[in-house]
Amino acid sequence: MERKPKIAILGATGVVGREITKITDELKVEFESIKFLSSAKSAGTKLTFQGKEYTVEEATPEVFEGIDIVMASAGGSTSQKFAPEIVKRGGLIIDNSSAFRMEKDVPLVIAGVNDEDLRKHKGIIANPNCSTSQLMLVLKPLHEKAKIKRLIVSTYQAVSGAGLAAINELREDTVANLEGKPFENKCFKKPISFNVIPQIDVFCDNGYTKEEMKVVNETKKILHLDEETPISCTAARVPVFNGHSEAVDIEFEENISPEEVRSILETAYGIKVIDNPDNFEYPTTRDASGVDPVFVGRIRRNLAFNNGISLWCVADNLRIGAALNTVRICKKVIEMGLFGNK
Ligand SMILES: NC(=O)c1ccc[n+]([C@@H]2O[C@H](COP(=O)([O-])OP(=O)(O)OC[C@H]3O[C@@H](n4cnc5c(N)ncnc54)[C@H](OP(=O)(O)O)[C@@H]3O)[C@@H](O)[C@H]2O)c1
Repeated sequence: MERKPKIAILGATGVVGREITKITDELKVEFESIKFLSSAKSAGTKLTFQGKEYTVEEATPEVFEGIDIVMASAGGSTSQKFAPEIVKRGGLIIDNSSAFRMEKDVPLVIAGVNDEDLRKHKGIIANPNCSTSQLMLVLKPLHEKAKIKRLIVSTYQAVSGAGLAAINELREDTVANLEGKPFENKCFKKPISFNVIPQIDVFCDNGYTKEEMKVVNETKKILHLDEETPISCTAARVPVFNGHSEAVDIEFEENISPEEVRSILETAYGIKVIDNPDNFEYPTTRDASGVDPVFVGRIRRNLAFNNGISLWCVADNLRIGAALNTVRICKKVIEMGLFGNK
Protein backbone atom coordinates (compact mmCIF):
# COMPACT_ATOMS: atom_id res chain seq x y z
CA MET A 1 0.00 0.00 0.00
CA GLU A 2 1.41 3.36 -1.01
CA ARG A 3 -0.78 5.57 1.17
CA LYS A 4 0.67 6.64 4.51
CA PRO A 5 -1.64 6.17 7.50
CA LYS A 6 -3.25 8.75 9.73
CA ILE A 7 -2.13 7.83 13.22
CA ALA A 8 -3.38 8.56 16.76
CA ILE A 9 -1.69 7.80 20.07
CA LEU A 10 -4.33 7.19 22.75
CA GLY A 11 -3.00 7.61 26.30
CA ALA A 12 -0.18 9.83 25.01
CA THR A 13 0.37 11.49 28.40
CA GLY A 14 0.95 8.20 30.27
CA VAL A 15 4.15 6.25 30.91
CA VAL A 16 3.64 3.89 27.97
CA GLY A 17 2.13 6.56 25.69
CA ARG A 18 5.18 8.78 26.11
CA GLU A 19 7.45 5.87 25.15
CA ILE A 20 5.24 5.10 22.14
CA THR A 21 5.60 8.73 21.04
CA LYS A 22 9.39 8.62 21.45
CA ILE A 23 9.78 5.30 19.63
CA THR A 24 7.45 6.38 16.78
CA ASP A 25 10.08 9.00 16.10
CA GLU A 26 13.07 6.67 16.66
CA LEU A 27 11.74 3.99 14.32
CA LYS A 28 10.79 6.61 11.72
CA VAL A 29 7.20 5.47 11.34
CA GLU A 30 5.83 7.08 8.18
CA PHE A 31 2.47 8.78 8.58
CA GLU A 32 0.30 11.35 6.86
CA SER A 33 -0.83 12.89 10.13
CA ILE A 34 -0.54 12.18 13.85
CA LYS A 35 -2.62 13.19 16.87
CA PHE A 36 -2.18 12.72 20.60
CA LEU A 37 -5.11 11.80 22.84
CA SER A 38 -5.76 11.56 26.58
CA SER A 39 -8.66 11.86 29.01
CA ALA A 40 -10.22 15.24 29.74
CA LYS A 41 -7.68 15.61 32.57
CA SER A 42 -4.63 16.16 30.34
CA ALA A 43 -6.42 17.44 27.24
CA GLY A 44 -5.01 20.80 26.25
CA THR A 45 -1.43 20.05 27.35
CA LYS A 46 1.21 20.75 24.73
CA LEU A 47 3.85 18.31 23.58
CA THR A 48 6.63 18.58 21.05
CA PHE A 49 7.07 15.81 18.49
CA GLN A 50 9.64 15.92 15.68
CA GLY A 51 10.18 19.61 16.34
CA LYS A 52 6.50 20.50 16.03
CA GLU A 53 4.16 21.46 18.86
CA TYR A 54 0.92 19.49 19.28
CA THR A 55 -2.01 19.99 21.64
CA VAL A 56 -3.21 16.81 23.36
CA GLU A 57 -6.89 16.26 22.54
CA GLU A 58 -9.58 14.59 24.63
CA ALA A 59 -10.48 11.14 23.29
CA THR A 60 -14.08 11.06 22.05
CA PRO A 61 -15.63 8.76 19.44
CA GLU A 62 -15.61 11.55 16.83
CA VAL A 63 -11.91 12.22 17.24
CA PHE A 64 -11.22 8.85 15.54
CA GLU A 65 -12.97 9.88 12.31
CA GLY A 66 -10.55 9.19 9.41
CA ILE A 67 -7.84 7.68 11.66
CA ASP A 68 -6.22 4.54 10.21
CA ILE A 69 -4.12 3.30 13.13
CA VAL A 70 -4.53 3.97 16.85
CA MET A 71 -1.74 2.96 19.22
CA ALA A 72 -3.57 2.68 22.55
CA SER A 73 -2.27 2.59 26.12
CA ALA A 74 -5.05 4.13 28.15
CA GLY A 75 -6.25 1.14 30.18
CA GLY A 76 -8.67 -1.68 29.48
CA SER A 77 -11.94 0.14 30.03
CA THR A 78 -10.89 3.01 27.74
CA SER A 79 -9.92 0.53 25.01
CA GLN A 80 -13.19 -1.31 25.47
CA LYS A 81 -15.07 1.96 25.11
CA PHE A 82 -13.23 3.24 22.04
CA ALA A 83 -12.25 0.10 20.09
CA PRO A 84 -15.74 -0.36 18.56
CA GLU A 85 -15.81 3.35 17.65
CA ILE A 86 -12.40 3.08 15.96
CA VAL A 87 -13.27 -0.11 14.08
CA LYS A 88 -16.68 1.26 13.04
CA ARG A 89 -14.87 4.17 11.38
CA GLY A 90 -12.53 1.84 9.44
CA GLY A 91 -9.61 2.22 11.83
CA LEU A 92 -7.33 -0.32 13.45
CA ILE A 93 -6.39 -0.29 17.14
CA ILE A 94 -3.12 -1.75 18.44
CA ASP A 95 -4.01 -2.15 22.10
CA ASN A 96 -1.72 -2.40 25.11
CA SER A 97 -4.37 -3.33 27.64
CA SER A 98 -5.48 -6.86 28.46
CA ALA A 99 -9.06 -6.17 27.29
CA PHE A 100 -8.92 -8.16 24.04
CA ARG A 101 -5.79 -10.30 24.27
CA MET A 102 -7.45 -13.68 24.64
CA GLU A 103 -10.33 -13.04 22.21
CA LYS A 104 -10.31 -15.55 19.36
CA ASP A 105 -10.49 -13.00 16.54
CA VAL A 106 -7.80 -10.75 18.01
CA PRO A 107 -4.20 -11.48 17.00
CA LEU A 108 -1.84 -11.31 19.97
CA VAL A 109 1.47 -10.41 18.43
CA ILE A 110 5.13 -9.95 19.22
CA ALA A 111 6.74 -8.39 16.18
CA GLY A 112 9.36 -10.76 14.84
CA VAL A 113 7.75 -13.77 16.54
CA ASN A 114 4.30 -14.28 14.99
CA ASP A 115 3.90 -11.48 12.41
CA GLU A 116 1.76 -13.66 10.14
CA ASP A 117 -1.01 -13.62 12.78
CA LEU A 118 -1.44 -9.89 11.98
CA ARG A 119 -3.14 -10.83 8.71
CA LYS A 120 -6.09 -12.26 10.68
CA HIS A 121 -6.98 -8.96 12.36
CA LYS A 122 -10.52 -7.62 12.26
CA GLY A 123 -9.68 -4.13 13.48
CA ILE A 124 -8.08 -5.01 16.83
CA ILE A 125 -4.52 -6.22 17.44
CA ALA A 126 -3.39 -6.88 21.00
CA ASN A 127 0.01 -6.32 22.50
CA PRO A 128 0.89 -9.00 25.10
CA ASN A 129 1.53 -8.42 28.77
CA CYS A 130 5.02 -7.07 29.44
CA SER A 131 6.31 -10.24 31.14
CA THR A 132 5.10 -12.41 28.28
CA SER A 133 6.56 -10.09 25.65
CA GLN A 134 10.20 -10.33 26.63
CA LEU A 135 9.90 -14.07 27.14
CA MET A 136 8.50 -14.72 23.64
CA LEU A 137 11.54 -13.39 21.82
CA VAL A 138 13.68 -15.79 23.87
CA LEU A 139 11.44 -18.85 23.65
CA LYS A 140 10.43 -18.69 19.97
CA PRO A 141 13.80 -19.71 18.44
CA LEU A 142 14.37 -22.32 21.16
CA HIS A 143 10.89 -23.79 20.66
CA GLU A 144 11.56 -24.04 16.92
CA LYS A 145 14.74 -25.99 17.63
CA ALA A 146 13.74 -28.33 20.48
CA LYS A 147 9.97 -27.90 21.20
CA ILE A 148 8.87 -26.71 24.63
CA LYS A 149 7.39 -29.43 26.82
CA ARG A 150 7.04 -27.61 30.16
CA LEU A 151 7.80 -24.09 31.37
CA ILE A 152 8.25 -22.43 34.77
CA VAL A 153 8.72 -18.67 34.98
CA SER A 154 9.41 -16.45 38.01
CA THR A 155 9.21 -12.71 37.40
CA TYR A 156 10.76 -9.79 39.26
CA GLN A 157 8.81 -6.82 37.92
CA ALA A 158 9.60 -3.12 38.05
CA VAL A 159 7.12 -0.54 39.31
CA SER A 160 7.01 1.29 35.95
CA GLY A 161 4.83 -1.63 34.82
CA ALA A 162 2.09 -0.21 37.04
CA GLY A 163 2.18 3.33 35.60
CA LEU A 164 3.27 6.80 36.59
CA ALA A 165 1.61 6.78 40.02
CA ALA A 166 3.52 3.60 40.97
CA ILE A 167 6.87 5.11 39.96
CA ASN A 168 6.12 8.08 42.21
CA GLU A 169 5.06 5.78 45.03
CA LEU A 170 8.41 3.93 45.01
CA ARG A 171 10.30 7.24 45.07
CA GLU A 172 8.20 8.79 47.84
CA ASP A 173 8.02 5.62 49.95
CA THR A 174 11.82 5.19 49.72
CA VAL A 175 12.48 8.75 50.86
CA ALA A 176 9.90 8.49 53.68
CA ASN A 177 11.40 5.16 54.79
CA LEU A 178 14.96 6.53 54.87
CA GLU A 179 13.81 9.59 56.81
CA GLY A 180 11.79 7.43 59.23
CA LYS A 181 8.53 9.13 58.26
CA PRO A 182 5.17 7.36 57.80
CA PHE A 183 3.96 6.68 54.27
CA GLU A 184 0.59 5.44 53.07
CA ASN A 185 0.90 3.08 50.08
CA LYS A 186 -1.85 3.41 47.50
CA CYS A 187 -0.72 1.65 44.30
CA PHE A 188 0.46 -1.53 45.98
CA LYS A 189 -1.08 -3.69 48.69
CA LYS A 190 2.15 -3.54 50.72
CA PRO A 191 4.94 -0.97 51.01
CA ILE A 192 7.14 -1.27 47.91
CA SER A 193 10.34 0.33 49.20
CA PHE A 194 12.93 -2.20 50.45
CA ASN A 195 10.37 -4.93 49.86
CA VAL A 196 9.29 -7.67 47.44
CA ILE A 197 5.56 -8.16 46.91
CA PRO A 198 4.37 -11.56 45.67
CA GLN A 199 1.21 -10.17 44.10
CA ILE A 200 0.65 -8.43 40.78
CA ASP A 201 -3.00 -7.87 39.87
CA VAL A 202 -5.82 -9.72 41.63
CA PHE A 203 -5.98 -13.37 42.68
CA CYS A 204 -7.87 -15.93 40.58
CA ASP A 205 -9.83 -18.92 41.90
CA ASN A 206 -6.88 -21.24 41.24
CA GLY A 207 -4.59 -19.27 43.60
CA TYR A 208 -2.54 -17.73 40.80
CA THR A 209 -2.76 -13.98 40.14
CA LYS A 210 -4.22 -12.58 36.93
CA GLU A 211 -0.73 -11.42 35.94
CA GLU A 212 0.60 -14.96 36.31
CA MET A 213 -2.26 -16.42 34.29
CA LYS A 214 -1.59 -13.84 31.55
CA VAL A 215 1.91 -15.28 31.15
CA VAL A 216 0.48 -18.81 31.03
CA ASN A 217 -2.32 -18.14 28.55
CA GLU A 218 -0.63 -15.56 26.33
CA THR A 219 2.47 -17.75 25.90
CA LYS A 220 0.31 -20.59 24.60
CA LYS A 221 -1.55 -18.28 22.20
CA ILE A 222 1.54 -16.56 20.76
CA LEU A 223 3.71 -19.67 20.35
CA HIS A 224 0.70 -21.74 19.20
CA LEU A 225 1.46 -24.27 21.94
CA ASP A 226 -0.82 -27.13 22.79
CA GLU A 227 -3.47 -26.03 25.32
CA GLU A 228 -2.29 -28.85 27.62
CA THR A 229 1.36 -27.68 27.76
CA PRO A 230 2.16 -27.25 31.49
CA ILE A 231 3.20 -23.67 32.26
CA SER A 232 3.48 -22.10 35.71
CA CYS A 233 4.37 -18.55 36.70
CA THR A 234 5.04 -16.65 39.94
CA ALA A 235 5.07 -12.88 39.50
CA ALA A 236 6.57 -10.54 42.10
CA ARG A 237 6.87 -6.75 42.23
CA VAL A 238 10.32 -5.51 43.22
CA PRO A 239 11.55 -2.02 44.14
CA VAL A 240 13.13 -1.36 40.75
CA PHE A 241 12.02 1.67 38.76
CA ASN A 242 12.26 0.11 35.32
CA GLY A 243 13.15 -3.26 33.78
CA HIS A 244 11.60 -6.67 34.39
CA SER A 245 13.75 -9.73 35.20
CA GLU A 246 12.69 -13.34 34.75
CA ALA A 247 14.11 -16.68 35.90
CA VAL A 248 13.04 -19.20 33.27
CA ASP A 249 13.14 -23.01 33.52
CA ILE A 250 12.30 -24.86 30.32
CA GLU A 251 11.90 -28.55 29.66
CA PHE A 252 12.23 -29.41 25.97
CA GLU A 253 10.98 -32.43 24.02
CA GLU A 254 14.42 -32.81 22.48
CA ASN A 255 17.85 -32.58 23.98
CA ILE A 256 19.47 -29.17 23.65
CA SER A 257 22.71 -28.10 25.29
CA PRO A 258 23.44 -24.75 26.98
CA GLU A 259 26.02 -24.15 24.21
CA GLU A 260 23.36 -24.65 21.52
CA VAL A 261 20.95 -22.36 23.37
CA ARG A 262 23.66 -19.71 23.62
CA SER A 263 24.51 -19.96 19.95
CA ILE A 264 20.83 -19.84 18.84
CA LEU A 265 20.13 -16.81 21.01
CA GLU A 266 23.28 -14.99 19.91
CA THR A 267 21.83 -14.63 16.42
CA ALA A 268 18.14 -14.42 17.36
CA TYR A 269 16.03 -11.34 16.57
CA GLY A 270 15.88 -8.79 19.40
CA ILE A 271 18.16 -10.71 21.79
CA LYS A 272 21.54 -9.87 23.30
CA VAL A 273 23.38 -12.58 25.22
CA ILE A 274 25.59 -11.51 28.15
CA ASP A 275 26.75 -14.76 29.67
CA ASN A 276 30.18 -15.05 31.13
CA PRO A 277 29.77 -15.89 34.83
CA ASP A 278 33.53 -16.36 35.30
CA ASN A 279 33.83 -12.64 34.69
CA PHE A 280 30.60 -11.80 36.57
CA GLU A 281 28.97 -10.95 33.24
CA TYR A 282 25.20 -11.41 33.24
CA PRO A 283 22.41 -8.94 32.49
CA THR A 284 20.75 -6.76 35.13
CA THR A 285 17.91 -4.27 34.88
CA ARG A 286 20.38 -1.42 34.70
CA ASP A 287 21.74 -2.88 31.45
CA ALA A 288 18.26 -3.18 30.00
CA SER A 289 16.51 0.06 30.93
CA GLY A 290 16.19 2.46 28.01
CA VAL A 291 17.36 0.07 25.30
CA ASP A 292 15.67 -2.37 22.93
CA PRO A 293 17.21 -5.85 23.30
CA VAL A 294 15.97 -8.58 25.57
CA PHE A 295 19.11 -9.58 27.46
CA VAL A 296 19.79 -13.22 28.33
CA GLY A 297 22.40 -14.73 30.64
CA ARG A 298 23.02 -17.50 33.20
CA ILE A 299 22.25 -20.10 30.50
CA ARG A 300 22.77 -23.51 32.09
CA ARG A 301 21.50 -27.05 32.23
CA ASN A 302 18.49 -27.30 34.52
CA LEU A 303 19.05 -29.99 37.16
CA ALA A 304 15.38 -30.80 37.78
CA PHE A 305 14.16 -31.53 34.23
CA ASN A 306 15.15 -33.94 31.50
CA ASN A 307 16.33 -31.87 28.52
CA GLY A 308 16.07 -28.84 30.79
CA ILE A 309 17.56 -25.39 30.42
CA SER A 310 17.51 -22.52 32.93
CA LEU A 311 18.22 -18.92 32.02
CA TRP A 312 17.86 -15.35 33.23
CA CYS A 313 16.21 -12.76 31.02
CA VAL A 314 15.96 -9.01 31.49
CA ALA A 315 14.29 -6.28 29.41
CA ASP A 316 12.89 -2.78 29.49
CA ASN A 317 9.24 -3.49 30.23
CA LEU A 318 8.13 -0.13 28.90
CA ARG A 319 9.86 -0.72 25.58
CA ILE A 320 9.68 -4.38 24.50
CA GLY A 321 6.92 -5.02 27.03
CA ALA A 322 4.67 -2.32 25.65
CA ALA A 323 5.72 0.67 23.56
CA LEU A 324 8.46 -0.81 21.36
CA ASN A 325 6.35 -3.79 20.37
CA THR A 326 3.35 -1.54 19.72
CA VAL A 327 5.35 0.65 17.35
CA ARG A 328 7.02 -2.38 15.71
CA ILE A 329 3.54 -3.82 15.10
CA CYS A 330 2.46 -0.48 13.66
CA LYS A 331 5.41 -0.56 11.25
CA LYS A 332 4.64 -4.17 10.24
CA VAL A 333 0.99 -3.28 9.64
CA ILE A 334 2.08 -0.46 7.34
CA GLU A 335 4.68 -2.63 5.53
CA MET A 336 2.17 -5.47 5.09
CA GLY A 337 -0.57 -3.07 3.94
CA LEU A 338 -2.93 -4.19 6.68
CA PHE A 339 -4.67 -0.88 7.42
CA GLY A 340 -7.39 0.99 5.56
CA ASN A 341 -9.22 -1.42 3.28
CA LYS A 342 -6.45 -4.07 3.80
N1 LIG B 1 3.42 0.33 32.19
C1 LIG B 1 3.65 -0.81 31.56
O1 LIG B 1 4.74 -1.42 31.61
C2 LIG B 1 2.62 -1.42 30.72
C3 LIG B 1 2.97 -2.53 29.98
C4 LIG B 1 2.02 -3.12 29.17
C5 LIG B 1 0.77 -2.58 29.12
N2 LIG B 1 0.44 -1.49 29.85
C6 LIG B 1 -0.91 -0.99 29.73
O2 LIG B 1 -0.91 0.28 29.11
C7 LIG B 1 -1.96 1.06 29.65
C8 LIG B 1 -1.44 2.37 30.20
O3 LIG B 1 -0.44 2.14 31.15
P1 LIG B 1 0.48 3.32 31.71
O4 LIG B 1 1.45 2.63 32.58
O5 LIG B 1 1.00 4.18 30.60
O6 LIG B 1 -0.58 4.17 32.58
P2 LIG B 1 -0.57 5.70 32.99
O7 LIG B 1 0.81 6.23 33.12
O8 LIG B 1 -1.49 5.80 34.15
O9 LIG B 1 -1.25 6.48 31.71
C9 LIG B 1 -2.60 6.31 31.33
C10 LIG B 1 -2.92 7.12 30.06
O10 LIG B 1 -4.25 6.82 29.64
C11 LIG B 1 -5.00 8.03 29.58
N3 LIG B 1 -6.39 7.79 29.94
C12 LIG B 1 -6.87 7.32 31.12
N4 LIG B 1 -8.23 7.25 31.07
C13 LIG B 1 -8.60 7.68 29.84
C14 LIG B 1 -9.85 7.84 29.20
N5 LIG B 1 -11.01 7.55 29.80
N6 LIG B 1 -9.88 8.33 27.93
C15 LIG B 1 -8.71 8.65 27.30
N7 LIG B 1 -7.49 8.49 27.86
C16 LIG B 1 -7.43 8.03 29.12
C17 LIG B 1 -4.32 8.96 30.55
O11 LIG B 1 -4.67 10.31 30.26
P3 LIG B 1 -4.62 11.46 31.41
O12 LIG B 1 -3.21 11.98 31.40
O13 LIG B 1 -5.60 12.46 30.90
O14 LIG B 1 -5.01 10.81 32.69
C18 LIG B 1 -2.85 8.63 30.28
O15 LIG B 1 -2.45 9.25 29.06
C19 LIG B 1 -2.65 0.16 30.68
O16 LIG B 1 -3.70 -0.54 30.01
C20 LIG B 1 -1.60 -0.82 31.07
O17 LIG B 1 -2.14 -2.02 31.51
C21 LIG B 1 1.34 -0.89 30.65
